[in-house]
This record gives sequence, C-alpha cells and structure tokens, in this order.
Amino acid sequence: MGMVSGKTALVTGGASGIGKATTLLLAREGAAGVLVADLNLAGAQAVAAEIEASGVPAAAMAVDVRDQDQVRAMVAEAVSRFGRLDCAVNCAGVAPAGAPFADLTDEYWEANISINLTGLRHCMTHEIRAMRASGGSIVNIASGAGLEGVELRGGYVAAKHGVVGATKTAAIDHAREGVRVNALCPGLILTPMTEAGVASGRLNIEELCPMGRAGRPEEVAEAAVWLCSERASFVTGAAIPIDGGHIAW
Ligand SMILES: NC(=O)c1ccc[n+]([C@@H]2O[C@H](COP(=O)([O-])OP(=O)(O)OC[C@H]3O[C@@H](n4cnc5c(N)ncnc54)[C@H](O)[C@@H]3O)[C@@H](O)[C@H]2O)c1
Repeated sequence: MGMVSGKTALVTGGASGIGKATTLLLAREGAAGVLVADLNLAGAQAVAAEIEASGVPAAAMAVDVRDQDQVRAMVAEAVSRFGRLDCAVNCAGVAPAGAPFADLTDEYWEANISINLTGLRHCMTHEIRAMRASGGSIVNIASGAGLEGVELRGGYVAAKHGVVGATKTAAIDHAREGVRVNALCPGLILTPMTEAGVASGRLNIEELCPMGRAGRPEEVAEAAVWLCSERASFVTGAAIPIDGGHIAW
C-alpha cells in the first residue's frame, strides 16, 4: 500500500523540478488523482500524461498563482474532478537574479513577492477552504532562504521567510479543523532553476553543500509525500530543512 493511497492531490509548479518529482511520487505512492498545475501548460500536460500512462487519474491545468481567480478555479477543478482535495503541494516559484539590497529593482521585488509569497497565500487560502470540512495536508516549498539570509537575493529571502511565517500561522489557525500545514526548506537542488548557476560556478557546491553534492528533486519529493501522508499525522507548523546539512554548517 502506498503512502498516500486513495488520497487526491494537487501540485503547483508541477511541470518541472521539485514539483514534477513530487507529482510523480504522489502517483507512485497510490494517489487516487493528481492535478498538475503550472504556468507552463505544455509541461504540466506532459507530466499528467506520464501519470495517466501509469494508470493513475491525472489532469493538467494552466494556472498563474498570482491570479486569485485562477487559483480558486484550480482548487475547484481538483475537487470536482476527484471528489475532494486531501493534499496540496505548493511548489510554484521563481528565483530571479538580484543585487545588493539597496539596488534591488521594484520589478525584482514584485516578482518575488507576487509569485513566491502572495501566490502561495492564494493557494493556501483556497486549499484550506476546500479541506477544512474533512481535513487535509498542505506542503509549502519554501527554501533555506526562508531560514537564513542569502547575499544578493533580498526579495527571494523576504518572500521565503514570509512563506515560513505564513505556514506556521496557518498551521495553528487550522489545526483543530484537521488541516496540517508544513514547509520544506530545500538547500541547493539540481533543477532548471539552479542548473545554470551551478554550471557557471555562481552556486558553489563546495561552499553550499556539506555532503559535497547538490540534492535531487526526488529527495525533496520524498519529504513532501511523507508530509502529505498519515505517517506525518502529528507534524504541523514545521519548517524542515532538506539540504544535506547546509543549515547545520
Ligand atoms: N532548486 C533549488 O535549489 C531550490 C531550493 C530551495 C527552494 N526551491 C523552491 O522550490 C520550488 C520549485 O523550484 P524548482 O527548483 O523545482 O524550480 P523549477 O523552475 O524547475 O520549477 C518551478 C515551476 O514553477 C512554475 N511557475 C513559476 N511561476 C509560476 C506562476 N506564477 N504560476 C504557476 N506556476 C509558476 C514554473 O513554470 C516551473 O514549472 C520553488 O518555490 C523554489 O523557490 C528550489
């Protein structure tokens, strides 16, 4: 029996990287249906097709998490298609190049806050409303940048600290409704978001990774699916590093 047998799920940012790996693992671990939501519809459709080919019901949907109406429609689609929403993993995010704090542009700041923080708030709001009658589990993909400062990344760090704070508060507010809300704080994970930075040496594995290697998206997905499952039944309001020891360094 899989870890999330019979549960229904949606994953934002499900077309790529950590979201894609999480979506595929939810399906392998017995999910009864998975909605793959992403700005990149073609990518989401490819992931949904891979899941359907394995015999698990799946659907793809184009969603911009900045737009609350689209997020509301995403949650409604998951509920109407699969009957209810048990699990949601919020991975959609961006990490644009920054600058020293006093030189950050408004565009850079706005991109980080509108997608990484306000977009996630939209998702949590409508996911919790769908879950509060029967319970559920939400996993927010924050970042190590939600736990510590990172040079030249002021907007990203502010947004991800906001994600950790929103996670803790939503967890408390909805604990008695059976909705668990947790955050994962990945260190350097090899995905399309980081591949160029690693290749150019800007993201230095020797400096960032005590284990001497970056993480794989599948290693974050394992924790996300565990948090979705009943095996994590007493875990809520946590912000868990998945970073090969980086934050302990
Ligand atoms: N890769 C890392 O090292 C790392 C480390 C810590 C945290 N994270 C976080 O993990 C999450 C996933 O990142 P990833 O590394 O898999 O990156 P990725 O670029 O592979 O995937 C991000 C996905 O989010 C989607 N997306 C972007 N903006 C969106 C929007 N407005 N609405 C809907 N979808 C949108 C993209 O289309 C893409 O499919 C992000 O929140 C990121 O900040 C990544």
